[in-house]
Parts: sequence; C-alpha cells; structure tokens
Amino acid sequence: MDPKPHSLRAGVAAAGVLFLAVVAPAHEGSNPSLHSAVRPLPRVVDLDARKVALGERLFRDPRLAENGRLACSSCHRLEAGGDDGLPRSVTNNGEPGPVNAPTVFNAAFNHRLTWRGAFRTLEEQAEADLHNPRHAATTWPKLLERIGRDADYRRLFREIYGRAPDREAVLDALATFERSLVTPDAPFDRYLRGERDALTPQQKRGWRYFVDYGCIGCHQGINIGGNLFARFGVFADPPGLRDDEKVYLGRFLVTGNKADRYVFRVPSLRNVAVTAPYFHDGSAATLEEAVRRVARLQLGRTLPEEHVADLVAFLHSLTGRWRGRSLASPPETEHPP
Ligand code: HEC
Ligand code: HEC
Repeated sequence: MDPKPHSLRAGVAAAGVLFLAVVAPAHEGSNPSLHSAVRPLPRVVDLDARKVALGERLFRDPRLAENGRLACSSCHRLEAGGDDGLPRSVTNNGEPGPVNAPTVFNAAFNHRLTWRGAFRTLEEQAEADLHNPRHAATTWPKLLERIGRDADYRRLFREIYGRAPDREAVLDALATFERSLVTPDAPFDRYLRGERDALTPQQKRGWRYFVDYGCIGCHQGINIGGNLFARFGVFADPPGLRDDEKVYLGRFLVTGNKADRYVFRVPSLRNVAVTAPYFHDGSAATLEEAVRRVARLQLGRTLPEEHVADLVAFLHSLTGRWRGRSLASPPETEHPP
C-alpha cells in the first residue's frame, strides 16, 4: 500500500534548479501541524480597508485598459477562483494569449509572480500588466487622465492618499487589494490547526501520498507552491514542448540562460480544485489528468489510479474561503435554506 518515497531529497533538477524534497512521512496519527514544510494561511490580514476598497474598484474597472475592454477582473474572476477558466487567457484583440491565467487569490504569498517568475512584487506585476500590449496596453499619462475624469476617484485618492491619482497611489491601491485576496480556512488548514476531522479519510490518505511521493518537495510553504522554480519535465519532456516554435520557454524568457528553458515557478496548489484547466499552457482539463501527468514528468512515476483519486481528494481540501464563502460554492449557486 505504501508508495516508496522517491529518493529525490535535496537534488539538482535537470535544469540546474535546486529543490528540496521533504520525504518525512506524515502517517496517520502523526501531528500534521508539525509538518514544517506547509503552513495554514492567516485568518486576518491587517490592511487599510479604504485602500482595499479603492483597489477593488480599480481591479474591476475596464477603464484602466486603453480600449476599455479588459478589467483585471475579466481574467481574474473573483467570483470564480480568481482566474478565467480558460486554457489560455483571451487578450484584448480576442486572441488567446501565450499562457493560462494563474489565480490572484493568495498571489501575495508567492515568492515570484507569473509562470516564468518575472516579478517580485504585486506592484511590479500590476504595472507590467497595465503596459502589456495584450492586456491594458496603456501608459501612465493616459490611464491617469482617464481615471482622473471620474469625480469619485479624484475624491477617494485625495481622501486616502492626500493627492490626485498618480502612479504610486494606483499601484499601491491595486496591490493592497490583491494582498487582501487571502483564502483561509480550507479544510486542510483547519486540519493543520488541529481539527482532526476537517479532512475525510480519503483526503488524509491523499495528504500522505503527497508527502511520500515527494509532491511536497516542490509544492511547499504557505502557498503549497509558489516558492521554487523547477523544470517542467524532470524525468520526461512534456509532449509537444520541444517542437512547437511558439512554445512558452518559461524562465528562459527572464534570464536568457539556456538551462532555464522550460523552467517554471512551481504553482501554488491552493484552490487548485476551482482553477481548471491546468499547467502554464492550460493543457490538462481535469485535476486527475494533471496529477497523472506531473507524477510522470516530475517524479518519473505512473501512479495507481486509487492514489490519483486520493491525491485529487486531498487537493480538494485546499479550497479556502473568501468573504465568508467557500470558493468551492460560487455565489450564484448559494441559496439560503
Ligand atoms: C487578458 C487577461 C488578463 C488581464 C486583463 C489581467 N491578467 Fe493578470 N494574468 C493573466 C495571465 C495570463 C497571467 C500569467 C502571465 C504569465 O505567467 O506570463 C497573469 C498573471 C497575474 C498575476 C501573477 C499571479 C501569480 O501568482 O503569478 C497577478 C498578480 C495578476 N495577473 C494581476 C493582474 C492585475 C492586477 C491586472 C489588472 C491590472 C491583471 N492581472 C489583468 C491574465 C490577465
Ligand atoms: C520537481 C518539482 C515538482 C514535483 C515533485 C511535483 N510538481 Fe506539481 N508542478 C510543478 C511545476 C513546475 C508545475 C507547473 C508546470 C507547468 O505548468 O509548466 C506543476 C504543476 C502542478 C499542477 C497544476 C497546477 C496548476 O495550477 O496548473 C498540479 C495539480 C500539481 N503540480 C500537483 C502535483 C502533485 C500531486 C505532485 C506529486 C504527485 C506534484 N505536483 C509533484 C513541479 C512539481
């Protein structure tokens, strides 16, 4: 029954990326909160509520974009997992862009942002997005002129920042809102805090496989991912990756270093059950498919189907809550009894 823990331990992936595989077993009965590789999300984040509200308004405002078509929330739907549910985001000209949109929920806890890890802060990322020709495609003078025409924005920026909207204040408000997008109290976090029954027996088995197979070697930390880089395809190349000229080369695009071809930031697995499809190219439609594929590519293993099912059940326990509701139940379907 026990999977043999893969002997990855501390190693250097094919691409020269150092990763640590934590192979400490997490058997039933051991105290899960002692597992130092993962941590629950904070229940409270201390932020200026006025900045959060202003940032949310900006986040949902398509006027930030030059052609007025795309708000941040068009691709990062807060009502639906913080992503857009598409294999690859549709850009401002209606064409699919190069990559899948990651969720903005808990992005503040990722050590680098985007699949290739191009940015260190939410402010840097937001500015790049506003300039991105495929997204907002705007410049600061034009953006500030557009939002400066709105009397509400002028009043809010003056009240909160003591001045008219400018680059620093817009980025600060957007980033402060994004820092509020934390989804605590997932069943797994409640389990880590000592609620033994927060996970079903199947989810507990899945958690054990997650540790014993070495998934946790890459997906770890407060976001269960988001804090390391790894080559996609340690044991085998993902199908199609080599031949497609237009393929997304991952971190190579940031560093220009050949060893960084096909190296990606390991994604956070928080809320992963509500952010299908999967991978940077959106090529896996379901979690089952994603788990089978990572096991093959990242660990060189073909998992028994029961283990896949248990791992998927565990991944479902990573869905947290935002503004009092579980991301697993979208607002439309939530009716009071
Ligand atoms: C057209 C769809 C689209 C729009 C509009 C958009 N994004 Fe994104 N966003 C993406 C995609 C796709 C990525 C991944 C890009 C990459 O990895 O190269 C991304 C990445 C991100 C990330 C990084 C998340 C992480 O964990 O790596 C953040 C944060 C983010 N966007 C915030 C924003 C903000 C703020 C705005 C508005 C200013 C915005 N996005 C507008 C599609 C979009
Ligand atoms: C060697 C590092 C490594 C190991 C080990 C690893 N992963 Fe991953 N995982 C990654 C990387 C890198 C990606 C992103 C690949 C891409 O899209 O280019 C990823 C993506 C995923 C995704 C898709 C997430 C999304 O939002 O698209 C899931 C689900 C996942 N891994 C689960 C697992 C499970 C379960 C295991 C153990 C069976 C595992 N991973 C082992 C590095 C790893």
